[in-house]
Amino acid sequence: MTVQFQVRPTDRPTPPQTREEILTDPGFGRYFTDHMVTVAWTPDAGWHDHQVTALAPITLHPGAAVLHYAQEILEGLKAFRHADGSVWLFRPTLNARRFAASSRRLVLPELDEETFVESVAALVRADEAWVPGYGGEQSLYLRPFMYATEAFLGVRPARQVTYSVIACPAGAYFPGGVTGVTLWISTRYSRAAIGGTGSAKCGGNYAASLDPQREALEHGCEQVLYLGGEQRRDIDESGTMNVFFVTADQELLTPSLGTILDGVTRDSVLTLAATHGLKPVERSISLDELRAGLADGTVTEAFAAGTAAVITPIVGFKSEEFTASVGDGEPGTYTRQFREHLLDIQYGRAEDTHGWMHRV
Ligand code: COI
Repeated sequence: MTVQFQVRPTDRPTPPQTREEILTDPGFGRYFTDHMVTVAWTPDAGWHDHQVTALAPITLHPGAAVLHYAQEILEGLKAFRHADGSVWLFRPTLNARRFAASSRRLVLPELDEETFVESVAALVRADEAWVPGYGGEQSLYLRPFMYATEAFLGVRPARQVTYSVIACPAGAYFPGGVTGVTLWISTRYSRAAIGGTGSAKCGGNYAASLDPQREALEHGCEQVLYLGGEQRRDIDESGTMNVFFVTADQELLTPSLGTILDGVTRDSVLTLAATHGLKPVERSISLDELRAGLADGTVTEAFAAGTAAVITPIVGFKSEEFTASVGDGEPGTYTRQFREHLLDIQYGRAEDTHGWMHRV
């Protein structure tokens, strides 16, 4: 039976005019909607108190485990408005599954798929007016997260946990997104170790990315490309995005799962590859192979994929060892096609042959 969320609407909603002003240029992650979801968990009561209430600051005991040991996980997914005004989530059950996998790695309680999807849908319904209109490239970004609230300084799984969802209207993640980004290949930092938390979506992974990101910016690059594998010489991911390479012999290459995040956009691109005449290949790709492929033209295109960033062309790479542009340094044709195809499905302009869209 689908769990029912108790909805207590805010008595101080954002004035419609202010909301409309925000929606003309929301940016990413700057403005928040009027409501939030919370659900509480304890070992005895299980998940209880499913609520949609006014967005408000949370009160935490200073000893709450999340503040000390980062027992926390998150997700990111989007709701899109179609031309007829209806609102749709993109593949929310995949996010639910990944959230459950992350909770197992961080020893947080699992939330079932149905409750996860219903929690997100309940928030979208409460904040429907915040879903940007059809016609641009905007959406409502949903951020489910779960954190350990128990006040206890011993290191063990917390016995009090909160699940929550917040939302923000979103435009482009990278202001220069469609023109392309240059990635800094860090030889100093790793994102994930074999056996570590790389495949879990937990806040600590992002905290650890801030210094490498600073290094990338210092070298004039927008994002980091991490190296992994036993020798730290294999392409891993780009922190907020998975990476793809198109080869001259029509392959769509991407690193295999393991230490990288199992991206929903990654999976969608791999599924759409054949439609675009490309053979999807998941395998390890060494830095040396990438460098050689960029030099001899075997790698014709590169792009990054993620919920927030959609499909972002990669136009160049820089590292301590080499600098290279991809092809002629312009976004590639397949990259554009994947971006358009995905957005067309998400905004209801292309047929949803895989049943990916979930009406709210
Ligand atoms: C997403 O693409 O949804 C992400 O979680 C990346 C984010 C950290 C901005």
